[in-house]
Amino acid sequence: MSSKQSPSARVTTASLAQMARERQPITMLTAYDFPTAQALDQAGVDCLLVGDTLAMVVQGHETTLPVTLDQMIYHAEMVGRAAERALVVVDLPFPEGQMSIERSLEAGARVLKETRCQAVKLEGGHEQAARIEAMATAGIPVMAHVGLRPQNVHQDGGYRVQRDTERLVNDAISVQQAGAFAVLIECVPVDAARQITEALDVPTIGIGAGPHVDGQVLVTNDMLGLTAGHLPRFVKQYAQVRETIAEATRQYCDDVRQGRYPESKHSFQ
Ligand code: KIV
Repeated sequence: MSSKQSPSARVTTASLAQMARERQPITMLTAYDFPTAQALDQAGVDCLLVGDTLAMVVQGHETTLPVTLDQMIYHAEMVGRAAERALVVVDLPFPEGQMSIERSLEAGARVLKETRCQAVKLEGGHEQAARIEAMATAGIPVMAHVGLRPQNVHQDGGYRVQRDTERLVNDAISVQQAGAFAVLIECVPVDAARQITEALDVPTIGIGAGPHVDGQVLVTNDMLGLTAGHLPRFVKQYAQVRETIAEATRQYCDDVRQGRYPESKHSFQ
């Protein structure tokens, strides 16, 4: 949010650029449903991402690959309805950003037309420049995603920190030149993220990329403590929602089994 903007003014691609210029850190979190998106938006997060991590943290798959465009749009509609201030970005799921440019244009157009969300995110660097240029020219704002690309998990043989700084910087410059309004950088060493941010005019948003970026993003389910099992080392947990749910459920079951619920105040006479 710019210092000249009211706290409730809608965040746009332009205001994100202004925040980066004014060195105001940009906050971004994932969202997949109406109530969570509403809570995050009202708490003041600048950007919401309907991430294809939906496949993992909501649908229970092992990778992001299975989620379909129709499923992303279904969830993006909920988030788009909830967000009054945050800019909402929607991931193009595999393989919408890997097939023909026409297919990506159609997918991006569906996102803007059907969901009230304002931008898409596309994994890839230099090799995606022509696609990003076509989408930006068509009026579809694109956040590029460089570094670790989860949709490439099988090609890369796993999820690894990306350490080829020269390639990372070149990828980021290419996607900026192609028209990306921001660049998400995933799992790169601190110094690589710093070099990328220094090389770019558009905002950089990091995840597992250290502090020298214009903003940070986390998967909400991870940072709220809702995800079971192993978490990447870059995740900071701000709550233990899974445990809160389990404890509330234990108390409810106990109350019903012991005849403590419902009481007369919960009943109609
Ligand atoms: O899909 C997603 O949640 C992402 C993360 C890197 C934030 O892209």
